[in-house]
Amino acid sequence: MGTREGIGDRLRAAAFAELQAIHGFRWAADRFTQEVSAELRLDWLRLAQEEEKHMNWLLARLEGLGIPLRERPVSDFLWRSFLTCTSARAFCHYIAGAEERGRDAGLRFAKRMQQFDPISAEIFGQIAEEEKSHIELAYRYFPLSTRPFDLANQTPMRAAATAVSPTDSPIQAPNDSSFALPKHR
Ligand SMILES: [Fe+2]
Ligand SMILES: [Fe+2]
Repeated sequence: MGTREGIGDRLRAAAFAELQAIHGFRWAADRFTQEVSAELRLDWLRLAQEEEKHMNWLLARLEGLGIPLRERPVSDFLWRSFLTCTSARAFCHYIAGAEERGRDAGLRFAKRMQQFDPISAEIFGQIAEEEKSHIELAYRYFPLSTRPFDLANQTPMRAAATAVSPTDSPIQAPNDSSFALPKHR
């Protein structure tokens, strides 16, 4: 945790998760155009921009620490999971579940990192704060009878991700290509 590699791994994994969220929201805005309101579509595109801001904070921190982006593999699990969502509702619940798990991890990281790298800790803390509204948005559009978490009381229950349950199979990140996912158009 307190090592340069440990910090780098977390920054890299988080940046790649943000990248997948950017593509996920844009993909959903395209894929479910007929199914959702113009308002939700615009909200998704707005969230994609926020995820891009988060990714850029993380990439800038990696660069600031002189940690190479491509020295370790990352997983495209999230992106492949989004593609298995067959409805806007399933997508919303799935991505909100992923954001909630990411947020929990970010909060834990921010707390433990405070003594080693306060700058990275602050970035993770700020992202976690902003992810709250992303998660809430999903349940505003697609309420569940049993709410899977309660952000106000900080009691995550992790039920939302059951909307889809893809199998995990991490892949090696390419060392020679760009930090990007396939185009969905
Ligand atoms: Fe984000
Ligand atoms: Fe988000």
